[in-house]
Amino acid sequence: MHRTNRTSRTRRTIHRVCIIGASGRLGQYMIEHALERGYEVVGVCRPESVAKLERFAGRITVVPGRTDDREVIRRAVAGCDGVLTVLVPWGVERYASGTAQAVLDLAAPDARLVFSCGWHISRDGEDVYPWTLRLFVRLFGAIGRLLRVVDLDDQVAATDRIFASDRRWTVVRGSDLEEGESQGLPVWSRHVGDPILASNRTRRIDFGLFMVAALEDDALVREAPAICGRETASARRHADAAQLGLAG
Ligand SMILES: NC(=O)c1ccc[n+]([C@@H]2O[C@H](COP(=O)([O-])OP(=O)(O)OC[C@H]3O[C@@H](n4cnc5c(N)ncnc54)[C@H](OP(=O)(O)O)[C@@H]3O)[C@@H](O)[C@H]2O)c1
Repeated sequence: MHRTNRTSRTRRTIHRVCIIGASGRLGQYMIEHALERGYEVVGVCRPESVAKLERFAGRITVVPGRTDDREVIRRAVAGCDGVLTVLVPWGVERYASGTAQAVLDLAAPDARLVFSCGWHISRDGEDVYPWTLRLFVRLFGAIGRLLRVVDLDDQVAATDRIFASDRRWTVVRGSDLEEGESQGLPVWSRHVGDPILASNRTRRIDFGLFMVAALEDDALVREAPAICGRETASARRHADAAQLGLAG
């Protein structure tokens, strides 16, 4: 089933958001979008990366620390009605699952929790992947594990915990990413393999836009949208077909 970026039926008001993994590229885009919306922003990043957030000085609160450190997360999410978490598979010490668990355990009970990952994460096993992605995941996963720098299985374990949770979560699954100016809110579908996603390309700035917009979109609660840029060929084909009344 296709789901494009329709306006949600229910909206909730967000005042203060915590961005976990704020110093990365996606994190910094999310800071910009959140500030544009007038949210108060608290950012968590590793101590060695605090300088990357200098351009936001005076506009956000920075909490330095590892994102799987429960005391750091407890302090950072206090008073936040939204938490945006960049889930990364770095290292072999269960960084992603530790981060996800800390957020699930310590965010306010009603908070909207939005997590990022890639298309390779499947909620129900119904995704149909291009062979190139399957090959990349196998090679990157095996080499990363061998060199002890990446643990893709831990990112899977992290999202499994989120899927099993009764919190108000959304897991946003990014396609291949590129830099460039915003093209607007990406389109999405429940499953990779949906023709609307075939172009497999999203601007990183728009990945951030989708994450931040999800905070106020209750239609995305307990969904794991796979996203794709709205100006890509596959999204445009779908939009053209919809105009002609042909889209499924
Ligand atoms: N890259 C892609 O093509 C792609 C495709 C689809 C989905 N995604 C998803 O998009 C999200 C952002 O990915 P991105 O590639 O664009 O990265 P990114 O936004 O540049 O962020 C990388 C994050 O990982 C942290 N990090 C880097 N090295 C680390 C280490 N050794 N230990 C712990 N943390 C470390 C960074 O923190 P510091 O600032 O402290 O280094 C930063 O918070 C992720 O959830 C990813 O799964 C990425």
